[in-house]
Amino acid sequence: MTDQRVVELFDEFMELTKDFIIRHGLRYEDYAAVTQYLIRVSEAGEWPLWMDNFLEATVDTTSYGDGPWTPSAIEGPYYKPGAPLLSRQPYTLPMRPDETGDKMLFRATVHNPAGEPLSAAVVDVWHATDKGLYSFIDAGMPEDFILRARVPVDENGSTEFRSIRPAPYEIPKDGPTGDLLNSVLGRHTWRPAHLHFRITAEGYKPLVTQLYFDGDPYLDSDCAEGVKQGLIIPLGKTEADGESWTLGQFAFVLQPQ
Ligand code: BEZ
Ligand code: FE
Repeated sequence: MTDQRVVELFDEFMELTKDFIIRHGLRYEDYAAVTQYLIRVSEAGEWPLWMDNFLEATVDTTSYGDGPWTPSAIEGPYYKPGAPLLSRQPYTLPMRPDETGDKMLFRATVHNPAGEPLSAAVVDVWHATDKGLYSFIDAGMPEDFILRARVPVDENGSTEFRSIRPAPYEIPKDGPTGDLLNSVLGRHTWRPAHLHFRITAEGYKPLVTQLYFDGDPYLDSDCAEGVKQGLIIPLGKTEADGESWTLGQFAFVLQPQ
């Protein structure tokens, strides 16, 4: 059966594209170049990367909605469902035995807009290594939930987990997405260092968001345009178990369903 909305969207998209071709006088050389480029993106398996790099930030603005809750942010192409649910404190994200990087302790609270703690919330967190690599994704990283976990909160909606501080992330620069950014557009292929979160609690919309760190050199030029002011946090220092830790903190507020 025909989905009328899809038909209308397709027709309008084609109208806009045809107008664009005419307005810019695009010719067969341009047509061939675009066709070849689209084939390269397909052959490299980079469509999820391409879409999330160039378009997801816009879809994010039309999806979650602004209000008295934490702003959402792009999920990106690297979320893996089914990360281990941590149960033994201190909660520590799974790491390789030789994981390097600044030790980072992260404190979070999860509330609703009325300030009530959401004690059944689960904080699904994932991030890159101190070399900017993701488990499952980047060459040399295990196909395993490294620096990925689901962290429960307590009766006050509070939790704390230990990990290492991620470095800025460079999207693959040798493929057609990186080529477009670097060689064609004269931009770059970097995202500021970030922590990804997917926070769920019954009765609330799942919050997919990211946190970035004050002072990061790529905050103003994120290749995926995913940074929002309200999601940039300062990092501090704290002591735990006789050691010094980089400290991040954030009070998440979920949007009622
Ligand atoms: C990320 O957040 O990791 C990401 C977002 C868009 C494109 C590539 C990576
Ligand atoms: Fe990321």
